[in-house]
Amino acid sequence: MATNEREAGATSPSDAAPARADAAPPVSHVLEVAREAARRAGDIIREGVAHTLRIDYKGQDANDPVTDVDRRSEAAVAEIIRAHFPDHRILSEEGTTGGEDPHWRWIVDPLDGTVNYAHRLPFSCVSIGVEHDGEIVAGVVYTPLAEELFAAERDGPATLNGQPIGVSATSELRRALLTSAFGPWEAGGRRFDRARALGPHVQALRDLGSAALELCYVAAGRIDGMGGSSLNAWDVAAGMLIVRRAGGQVTDPYGDPFTVEGKHLVVSNGVLHGAIMARLHGASEVLPPKDESKEQPPQSSPPSPEITTPTAP
Ligand code: IPD
Ligand code: CA
Ligand code: CA
Repeated sequence: MATNEREAGATSPSDAAPARADAAPPVSHVLEVAREAARRAGDIIREGVAHTLRIDYKGQDANDPVTDVDRRSEAAVAEIIRAHFPDHRILSEEGTTGGEDPHWRWIVDPLDGTVNYAHRLPFSCVSIGVEHDGEIVAGVVYTPLAEELFAAERDGPATLNGQPIGVSATSELRRALLTSAFGPWEAGGRRFDRARALGPHVQALRDLGSAALELCYVAAGRIDGMGGSSLNAWDVAAGMLIVRRAGGQVTDPYGDPFTVEGKHLVVSNGVLHGAIMARLHGASEVLPPKDESKEQPPQSSPPSPEITTPTAP
């Protein structure tokens, strides 16, 4: 089993003084703070498994769950960011904001895979990406239920619990395991059109329910590629850097470099990218329009009357 990255006796970033607004912190320090925040969030996610969840619903059709654990995880992450970098901006799924520094932005999904989590499927994580002048320079994805922490910084290797990781060497599409992370608009036919375009040509196609973790699984060579649609910046900010630093490729469905402002992406070990794109473009009805603009982040609806799931055994 992989070991935890925290080393005995290591200095916690919490011991350090907050960064001055006029001094750019080294990326390595930013990454260490992101790790600390992810571990704190991970504790909350792990503990939440043993308790009854409070679940509210948000989104256009009010069927997108948000739990008390999402909110408590977000608060814990924001507290750590603010303690170190009070001026840095924060974009977090459940609406928490930070300072107004034009250079730095933390992009946070406090719990990616909420549907899994609410149904007690152990496949979810916290995702923290850090952007400097529009470029993602550090990313951490932590899944406490498997005790796996994926991380990368701009100029370093992608790691899993501190050990370097790399994408798979799979070169034949028919031997590839691919996953998909589809957003709400895919509820219509396009989701199935895409599965039809790729399914018969790959070993297997899955939808695991956590885009951030699926990106990290590509980085670790566990899956060979993935596609995502209608995703938000917090789903992908950390994972896209981790995949790239692991040697993988992340583009939009037209082959241009993917940025966090995009909604749709194709991810692979690099070797398979052309073959995946060829299958998607061979069935053009599955492609979103090239100029489809970024959706506005969904806002949480006011808490609804308490709805609970059974306490885990
Ligand atoms: C969701 C997951 C899922 C993807 C959805 C996302 P959430 O995030 O990443 O894999 O298909 O589009 O909204 O709601 O669990 O944070
Ligand atoms: Ca998410
Ligand atoms: Ca989330």
